[in-house]
Amino acid sequence: MHANHPTPLADALCALGRRDVASFHALPLSGGRSVHGSALRGRFEELYGAHLAADVSYSAPVLDSLFAPRGPLRAAQRLAAEAFGADATLFVSAGSCVSNAVAVRTLVEPGSRVLADRTCHQSIHFALDAAGATVDYAPVRPCGCGCPAVLADLAALLDMARAEPYPAVVLSAASYDGVLYDLPALLRELAATNPSARVIVDEAWGAINAFHPELAAMTALRGARDHRGLTVAVTHSAHKSMSALRQGSYLHFAAAPETLSRARAELFRLHTTSPSFPILASLDLARAHAQRDGAGLVARSIRLAAAFREAISTDPSLAVYRLPGTGASPAPYARHDPAKVLVDAGMPGEEFRRLLFEEHDVYAARHIGTAVLFSFHIGVDEVMAARLLAALRALALPRPVPEPGSFVIPYPPGIPAVLPGEDLDPAVLAALRTSGCELFVLPGHGRRQPRAPKLIGLAPGLTRGDSHDRA
Ligand SMILES: Cc1ncc(COP(=O)(O)O)c(C=O)c1O
Repeated sequence: MHANHPTPLADALCALGRRDVASFHALPLSGGRSVHGSALRGRFEELYGAHLAADVSYSAPVLDSLFAPRGPLRAAQRLAAEAFGADATLFVSAGSCVSNAVAVRTLVEPGSRVLADRTCHQSIHFALDAAGATVDYAPVRPCGCGCPAVLADLAALLDMARAEPYPAVVLSAASYDGVLYDLPALLRELAATNPSARVIVDEAWGAINAFHPELAAMTALRGARDHRGLTVAVTHSAHKSMSALRQGSYLHFAAAPETLSRARAELFRLHTTSPSFPILASLDLARAHAQRDGAGLVARSIRLAAAFREAISTDPSLAVYRLPGTGASPAPYARHDPAKVLVDAGMPGEEFRRLLFEEHDVYAARHIGTAVLFSFHIGVDEVMAARLLAALRALALPRPVPEPGSFVIPYPPGIPAVLPGEDLDPAVLAALRTSGCELFVLPGHGRRQPRAPKLIGLAPGLTRGDSHDRA
C-alpha cells in the first residue's frame, strides 16, 4: 500500500478489521461488540476509539504468531531490522522491561562476570540479579558541564574493561537528563579489550535517533556494524521517541543466528502469551513513519530546542531562568542531547512542574533540585514550543504579595500565619506558597471597602489570584 515504506503487519490488521468476522474465541470488546448497547459505550469509544477495532485475538495462520512469526509480523520485523541496521529485530508488546530481561538472559551466562553501568534501568538490574551474575558496576560521576545531572563514568568503565576482559557488558545509551553516550566509540574501545564480548545496550530513549543523520552516528547499532566480532543486543522503548503505542519495544541483535534462536526461546519464556496486536502494528507503523518523516521531525525538535534555549538566554522576560552547563562537554564519550533542555527554574522543580501543569496545562516529567527537563520529542511542534515559552513567561512574573495590614491564612488548618500589623518573613511566605495548602489574604479591619479573601497560594485545581469564598 505504501510502496516506499511498506507496513505489512499494520496492513494485515487493517484488512482483518474491514472484515466482519464473528469471533468465537475471546476478546468480546474487539470491534466494540460487548459494549454496543451499553451506557458506557461512549466512554469506551472516547478512550479507545479505533483501538476497539485493532485489538484482536487472532494468531497464526489468520494473522501471525509472536513466537514463531512466518507472516506479516515476520515481514514487519525484517523491515525494522533493515531500517535500524540490525541483523534481526524482535517485536515486544510488553515493554522494554521485558526486552531488557530477554537480552540479559540471552547474553549473560548464569553466574558469569558482567561489567555494568550503574545508571541502568531497574529492569537490567533485576535481570542481572536473577541471572546470578557477578556484577561490577562502573562508578557514577557528575555531569562535567556543571548541571545537576549524573551519568555513568564511561572512562572509568573502559578502564575496568581494560583491566579485566569481561565476557558481558551492559550499557545505557543516555542519561535521564539529556546526555547521549557515543556508543560507536564505546563499542570500539570495548572490542579492543575483548573482541568477542557480548554487549547489551539499553537505548530505550533513543530509538528515533537512528533516523537522523547526526544522531544516528551516536547509536549502538551503527557502532556494532564496525565490530562484527561483538555480539550486541539493543533495546528500544519505541513509544518514548517514536509514533508507537506504549509497551511497544524493539529488541535488536547484531549477532549470529544461534544467539537469535536463544533470544526467541527467552522471549517465549518471558513474554505474555496474549501479545497486543495494536502495539505490535504500531511498531510496524512507527518504523515506516520514522523512515518517511523521522529525519525532518528530529531536525524540527532540534531547531525548536535551540530556539527555546536562545529565548531563555536572551529574552529579558525569561531572565529568572538559567540554562545550567550549556555549551560545556558533559563527559568523555558523551554529548548533550540537542533535543533536551534542562532549565533551572529558580524554585523547587517539583513545585515548578506543578505550576506548569495546574496553571498552563504544560507537563514536564523530570526535575533534579531546581532544574526541570524539557524533552523536545517529535510530537512537539511550534505551537507547543510557543506555549511552553508563554507559560515560562507567565510564571516569571512577580507573584502577588500580601499588603501590609492583612491576615495571611493557610488553609488547612486556618490558623493565621500573620495578623494585621505583624511582619511577614519572605522565607515563610515562600514556604507557605509551596506547602500545597490554600493561602488566603484578607485585608485587616481598618480598610474602608470590605474585600473578599484573595487566594495567593495554590491548591491543586485552583488558579493563582482567584478569589475564593469559603462557607
Ligand atoms: C532506560 C530505560 N530502560 C528501560 C525502560 C523500560 O521501558 P518500559 O517501561 O517501556 O518497559 C525504561 C522506562 O522508563 C527506561 O527509562
